[in-house]
Amino acid sequence: MAFFYSDGILHVGDARASVTVDSIIGAIDRPAYVYDLDDIALRFHAMNNAFVGTRHTIHYAMKANSNAAILRHLCALGAGVDTVSGGEIARARAAGVPADRIIFSGVAKTHQEIQRALEARIKQINVESPQELQRIADIARSLGVVADVAFRLNPNVNPKTHPYITTGFRDNKFGMDESFMPELRGILARESKWLRLRGFTMHIGSLLFDLDVIREAIEKTIAVHETFKAQGHALDRLDIGGGLGIAYDTADTAREFEMITQYGRMAIDATRGLDVELLTEPGRVFVARAGVLVGRVQYIKVTAAKTFAILDTGMHHLVRPALYGSKHRILPLHQDAGEKITYDIVGPICESSDFLAKDVSLSQLKQGDLVAIADAGAYGFTMASQYNSHELPAEIAVSAGRVVVCD
Ligand SMILES: Cc1ncc(COP(=O)(O)O)c(C=O)c1O
Repeated sequence: MAFFYSDGILHVGDARASVTVDSIIGAIDRPAYVYDLDDIALRFHAMNNAFVGTRHTIHYAMKANSNAAILRHLCALGAGVDTVSGGEIARARAAGVPADRIIFSGVAKTHQEIQRALEARIKQINVESPQELQRIADIARSLGVVADVAFRLNPNVNPKTHPYITTGFRDNKFGMDESFMPELRGILARESKWLRLRGFTMHIGSLLFDLDVIREAIEKTIAVHETFKAQGHALDRLDIGGGLGIAYDTADTAREFEMITQYGRMAIDATRGLDVELLTEPGRVFVARAGVLVGRVQYIKVTAAKTFAILDTGMHHLVRPALYGSKHRILPLHQDAGEKITYDIVGPICESSDFLAKDVSLSQLKQGDLVAIADAGAYGFTMASQYNSHELPAEIAVSAGRVVVCD
């Protein structure tokens, strides 16, 4: 419970140590993300506990939120990271994540990004195409190093999520199906001096709730893993990606903790006897609940059709509602028991897609009020832009009721 009301005032923290979001925002005169580091730690521990008894490494998918305080916090707990660009690798390194805890995913790795990754001796590159594998081999040869790689399988499963965040289906650009394997084997054989295949990886999408589909994808990945093993490749890793969802329409988090536990059990069961280090890449489920975006009401505008609360923050700071039609709960920093009014919560951007919530029933808002958009810790700031030349929001991390230095 990272954010909760006490006496009608929104707090961040838990029953032992908390602080009002109001006081955290203080004199900041622009929109701000507020993060609860302790809530992220709870989720990290839940995931670790779910895999207890296995060789398991959590590689937090930092695309969800690459704030330095969060990276430092997770790294101190023992996490590695999953990255998708040279920029993310640099951010992770700057936050103190050791190179041997960094995985590099992503479909369009440039020559320079691969070179820097190999020079830094990161743990593994997750390969998305035969051309990429050849490029890695060429660069490894030029540097005189051996590249540790995993092949990303596209298992062609339907994860039943929003089409924009499906990644393991036949139509998606991600991963490689079995028809790629002969070509990959050929490159591996030719470049055996520079490439070391450590295992396979898959990631079928985000905002997933159906563990059976994830299991199906794991089983398909294991089948390919076994054929490579049978041909003499000493595979010692299996990366089962990330993707666990949270229910944005409710504050009840019990279900997602339960899902983390069941996920671990399922993965252990599905991979029994495989003798590999199991890698996971959770992003959203660690950080979504741990962040809110706080904006200030600039105007209340009543039209014949709608009552708009127009904020200084919008789709440029949190694009999920505009991009995916996702729904976030709206939490005024001060609630009162008075009459409820139905609002559209919108931003300053010159687009009608600039909304944060539609038709939400809230106690009356007025100019100057602060409003938090809930569950905005994942794919919030990392997807923010300066569209219309607005400033990026501030970011403030809190632990045990105190602000943590956040750069
Ligand atoms: C390769 C890979 N791993 C992990 C993730 C993290 O997904 P999520 O935040 O849903 O856990 C993503 C997200 O798209 C991804 O592309």
